[in-house]
Amino acid sequence: MSRMPFIAGNWKMNKTVAEAEAFMEACAGRSFDGVDVAVCVPFTSLWAAKRAAGSVAVYAQTMHDAPSGAYTGEVSAAMLDAIGVDGVVLGHSERRELFGETDKALQRKVPAALEAGLVPILCVGETEAERENGDMERKLRHQVQEGLHSVPAERLHEVVIAYEPIWAIGTGKVATPEQAQEAGELVRALVGDRSKEAEQRVRVLYGGSMKPNNAAELLALPDCDGGLIGGASLKPDDFLAIVDAATS
Ligand code: PGA
Repeated sequence: MSRMPFIAGNWKMNKTVAEAEAFMEACAGRSFDGVDVAVCVPFTSLWAAKRAAGSVAVYAQTMHDAPSGAYTGEVSAAMLDAIGVDGVVLGHSERRELFGETDKALQRKVPAALEAGLVPILCVGETEAERENGDMERKLRHQVQEGLHSVPAERLHEVVIAYEPIWAIGTGKVATPEQAQEAGELVRALVGDRSKEAEQRVRVLYGGSMKPNNAAELLALPDCDGGLIGGASLKPDDFLAIVDAATS
């Protein structure tokens, strides 16, 4: 089964409107053959980024699961869809660790995103201590099962899953190809527990210190269909070098 590679930049809390527009201008004129490309943008720059976007898809970095209501500071899937946003990152380890995002909330958020027409990128990954204690498999199983729990089997393949070992995020300490493949294969098999068709079709990304100099090796792995890239997505040249690595 050939799956379309997917390179998504996660800007985190970076880039004003003017900076987002400048990034998009630097990518303008590029058409991306054989690879899906997205950037995950702070709320305040989503509208401007989408207007300037060209062939780069624009994703949000989080959302609430309810359609509307008394949730001060939150944004719904319908609000994102209404300004043309294409997808949303859900369950990033920074949201889980720093902002209390729970597996229970993700059970509602992933199907809510799909229903609103947004592509969810569900993030999963173990801490260094969990890896050292032999708990990686248990953690990934739990996060994948919970996150996909309320997604109907026929829509499972539309979810993108990013395997992001927490010890590799923002540390410069990238997973080895063996580690990334082992985890990617496990994530895919966990989807297969729900649907054999989705197992073949679902895209599994790697995230955590992916850079232009290590991307090609990771992207060549059988169970790495792309990358979720933080630090190296802030500069267009670095980001586009990783996009190029996905198609060469
Ligand atoms: P990093 O971040 O590429 O800076 O390690 C990845 C992420 O948090 O998605």
